Order: sequence, then C-alpha cells, then structure tokens
Amino acid sequence: MGFAENVRLAPQRTMRSLLISLSHRRSLARLAVRSPLTRPVVARFVAGESLDEALPAIGVLAGAGFRTTVDVLGESVTSPEHASAAVDRYLATIAALSERRLDPNVSVKLTQMGLEIDRDLCRANVMRIVEAVRGVSGFVRIDMEDNTRTEATLDTWRAAYAAYPGVGVVIQSALRRSSADVDAIIAAGGRVRLCKGAYDEPASVAYRTKAAVDANYARLMERLLMADASPAIATHDPRLIARAIEIVEGEGIGRDRFEFQMLYGVRRDLQRALVARGYTVRIYVPFGQEWYPYFMRRLAERPANVGFMLRAVLKEEGRRLRGR
Ligand code: FDA
Repeated sequence: MGFAENVRLAPQRTMRSLLISLSHRRSLARLAVRSPLTRPVVARFVAGESLDEALPAIGVLAGAGFRTTVDVLGESVTSPEHASAAVDRYLATIAALSERRLDPNVSVKLTQMGLEIDRDLCRANVMRIVEAVRGVSGFVRIDMEDNTRTEATLDTWRAAYAAYPGVGVVIQSALRRSSADVDAIIAAGGRVRLCKGAYDEPASVAYRTKAAVDANYARLMERLLMADASPAIATHDPRLIARAIEIVEGEGIGRDRFEFQMLYGVRRDLQRALVARGYTVRIYVPFGQEWYPYFMRRLAERPANVGFMLRAVLKEEGRRLRGR
C-alpha cells in the first residue's frame, strides 16, 4: 500500500482505535446501558438482554435455514462469583437450546470465565461448559480476545479439546503469529474459526493495514480449506467469500467440510444469499445485559455505524421532545 493510501486510511484507523478504547470504559458502559436512546440501535446487533428474548430470535434464524452459535455476553470479569454466574448462564442457555431442539452451539470468552483472575479457575469454568455441551453432543467455540490473551486461549483450547473434540478456537488474520498457530491447530486436528480480528493491536504483533490483514486472511483460509480442517470462514467481506467459493468449487471440497459464519445483524442480505445457494451459514447470536464492549467493537468495524447511531438517537430525542 502506498503512502497516499495510508494517509487516506489514517483517520478511519484513528476512529477505530478511539471506539475500541472507549469500549473499555466502564463509566460509559453504565451510561449507555441505562439509556433508552441507544436501545433500538443496539437491537440490530444484540438479540436481547435475556435468554427469553434471545430464544425466539434464534428460532427465527433456524426456521430460515441458518445454524447459530450463541454468545452470552460478558468479558473482563474481575470476581470468581461473577465468572461462576456467567458459567451458570451458559449452562441454562445450553439446556434451553437443547430442549427446544436448537443448535447446542455456544461461543465463550475466557476473560468472562475468569482469565484475568486465575488461569486454573478459568480453565475449570470452561470445563463446566464443555461438560454441559458434551452432554448434548454440542459444540463450544472459544472466542479470541486481544493479543495478550492469545497464548492462554490456545493453551485452554488444547486442554479442553483433549477432553472433548467438540471444542474449537478462533484465529485472527491480523496477528503475525497466526500462520504458525493455524499450522499447529491443523496438525492437532482442531477446528478453527478464521476472522480478521476486532481489537486494536500494535504493529509489533499485528498487520496494521486492511490490505495486509485481508491478504493474510486469504492465505490462512486457503490453507485451512485445502487441509480439510472443517474451518469456519467468519467474515462479511464479499471478496473473501467469493475467493472461498472459488477454492471449494475448484477443488471439489464438499459443502459439509466448512461453513460461513457471520454476526447477528450484519450483512443480512449476504447471509440469506449464501443460504439460498446451499451453503451452511452460522450466525453468531449475542445476548445479555453486558452488551456495551461488543457493541462498541461493532461500531469500530464500520465507522459509518456511528453516524447511523447518532441519527437514530437524535430522531428518538426529537420524538421525546415533541411529545412533551
Ligand atoms: P471487514 O471489516 O472488511 O468488513 C467487510 C464488510 O462487512 C464491510 O464493508 C461491511 O459491509 C460489512 N461489515 C463488517 N462489519 C460490520 C459492522 N460491524 N456493521 C455493519 N457492517 C459491517 N473477532 C475477534 O477478534 N475474535 C473473535 O472471536 C471473533 N469472532 C467472530 C465471530 C464471527 C462469526 C464473526 C463474523 C466475526 C468475529 N470476529 C471476531 C470479528 C472479526 O474479527 C471482524 O472484526 C468482523 O467480522 C469484521 O470484519 P469482516 O471480516 O467482516 O471484514
């Protein structure tokens, strides 16, 4: 990428960094969560604040031919009690999904399981979820957080995968180390969800331009598909999705050997189009009261979403003032 293009991208990257840094601000989180103004915009990305609200949304997706993976929102937990309560919410979710014959497939963040408190506590909490999922022949995906957690996440994945093969992990094409990590996971027979990476990472460990992150994504995706490693291609990027289709069609790779994954509320047109073409599409469905950091990362991915949110907030506020 040339100098001019880097300069042109700079404001966008600054906005992304700003939004990601705001995602860590607990005071803003409290304000946003209490405000009724943000609700309609948040509802586009989050399937509800409770399991009761999320289950119908998951049912609608299943009825439309989608698979799902459910994220019980929460991260950066600082007390063992909160981590244990998060595990309980996961167990209730797995039981409810299984009772309703919905996909018993969940996605979990390790900082919600107590990684910042104690690694052994975190691992024990993850194992409670793994056991519940094993009981219903389901699947757990361990989400990947920022680069300071990569090693601990892969270690936890290895231990959980040794106990039950229905545990997968996430690899981010933004990280320079990912090529070696993908090779190691393929060698171990594990399953990767490949994404670009939602965190603001330093140049020492990450590719910092979109072109480099995308090029690495294409390389890793090809390697996973060619290795027949049952990958999840998690992106809304039409060019990468077209490339995946080119590879699987060219190589005669069966549609049961990989899946596309996309986020709830993002590029629904593309989600439907892929299902209509007969591809497996799994939607990542988050729910819960702790939606603030997840929501901020979604804004950061597409700064145009900030304008969309501000317009919705202003419209709502105008309505409120007129109603007075
Ligand atoms: P890119 O950002 O280039 O977007 C391509 C196009 O998609 C955009 O042009 C736009 O049309 C649309 N788009 C993307 N994001 C949008 C948004 N928020 N709102 C509206 N439109 C949007 N990350 C991580 O670090 N750890 C993880 O565990 C996961 N897990 C995960 C699971 C699944 C199922 C998905 C799809 C993604 C993740 N991610 C993640 C997030 C991922 O790293 C990345 O930040 C987003 O997917 C956005 O990148 P794209 O690949 O979509 O490309």
